[in-house]
Amino acid sequence: MLENKNVTVFVTGGIAVYKACDLIRRLIKAGANVRVAMTKSATQFVQPLTFQVLAKHPVYLDTFDEKEAQYVAHIHLADWTELAIVAPATANTIAKMATGIADDMVSTTLLATTAPRLIVPAMNEHMWENPATKANLQKLKEYGYTVMDPDTGFLAEGYEGKGRLPEPSRIVEEAMLLLLQHTAELPLRGTRVVVSAGGTKERIDPVRYLTNQSSGKMGYRIAEAARDLGATVTLVTASNLERPFGMDVVGVSSALEMQEALMSKFETADIVVMAAAVSDFRPVNQSDHKIKKTAGNLEIELEKNPDILAGMGQMKKNQFLIGFAAETDHLEEYAQDKLKRKNADMIVANDVSKPQAGFDKDTNEVIIFQPNKEPIHIDTKLKSEVAKDILQEAIKTITNL
Ligand SMILES: Cc1cc2nc3c(=O)[nH]c(=O)nc-3n(C[C@H](O)[C@H](O)[C@H](O)COP(=O)(O)O)c2cc1C
Repeated sequence: MLENKNVTVFVTGGIAVYKACDLIRRLIKAGANVRVAMTKSATQFVQPLTFQVLAKHPVYLDTFDEKEAQYVAHIHLADWTELAIVAPATANTIAKMATGIADDMVSTTLLATTAPRLIVPAMNEHMWENPATKANLQKLKEYGYTVMDPDTGFLAEGYEGKGRLPEPSRIVEEAMLLLLQHTAELPLRGTRVVVSAGGTKERIDPVRYLTNQSSGKMGYRIAEAARDLGATVTLVTASNLERPFGMDVVGVSSALEMQEALMSKFETADIVVMAAAVSDFRPVNQSDHKIKKTAGNLEIELEKNPDILAGMGQMKKNQFLIGFAAETDHLEEYAQDKLKRKNADMIVANDVSKPQAGFDKDTNEVIIFQPNKEPIHIDTKLKSEVAKDILQEAIKTITNL
């Protein structure tokens, strides 16, 4: 998302300036072309040389330092910028932005750019709470700028409070989302996608459960791919993987919980991807105390869990329903059968016995089955790439391409 994007980081004079170094490193790692502009106050905290080395470009400091005769530096930088990040944003610079003051390189360029702006305030809690700061930030929001809320935690002043700069990794995520929002032509813009992921856990007693080998990786990659294609995504997950950003994440454990969470989203969904490995059975009795070891064998009676995919297949109106089939043999036969039985619009089948495919791998090799269409083989590639291919195929079918 940040690949080859022109990002200018405007660094203003707060104690969190040192964190902007990590932010710039991360932006560069994500593929962005980064320029840095600093206020005079910011240079009191970290030398411009540090930022110059990180960004591999001289830092913009002075509006009147016109080195290139063919350009006016601040207008050239403003026009070059595709995304402006103000981090840390001081109360002072926020006030200037809210009132249109342009009296240094940072504020002048920020006034001159038409790029989306991400403001990341960091300041003392009382400065943050001051009605003037609040009113200024409100104005910036009304201008269409994105303002991140500061974190609460240990402040430089030596006490707990709200005002800390959010972690640079979160600023990068927010920057990616902002760029996504400003990308007009995304095929899933306005589409609601619901994805399930992970292996459900069926409780036996407070410490034991039945589950399966699913890691949730395929579902997560699909949810991320849908987000990157512009969709509004809900991820219903039974996995412990790190939560992806830019989507609604609902954590569940058992098949029944997953069913409830999915059903509450089903009616308004446009595309539903059932990538979760839902347990077919659950213990009839879930002991509320740990079952003690006994001399003999233990019998656990299992009852059937609801077939969520089949239930959705019966309920569906305009939803495009994608199911997964994890098989070890007779892949095509079982997948074609599943497509019909579940009334799905697409079944993605993977042979989980293959070394590069299936559970907990970063790669997958799948065959996509759709009614009245030839199966599509997707050779071994990263799950993130497989996810894009699956969604692209769904988009083709939905739009009759
Ligand atoms: C040690 C120190 C730390 C400061 N930290 C902050 C801060 O975190 N946030 C803030 O808004 N101002 C902070 N200030 C005040 C700003 O540096 C001051 O308002 C300055 O005029 C901001 O200028 P600028 O917006 O042009 O960078 C701090 C000042 C000092 C001396």
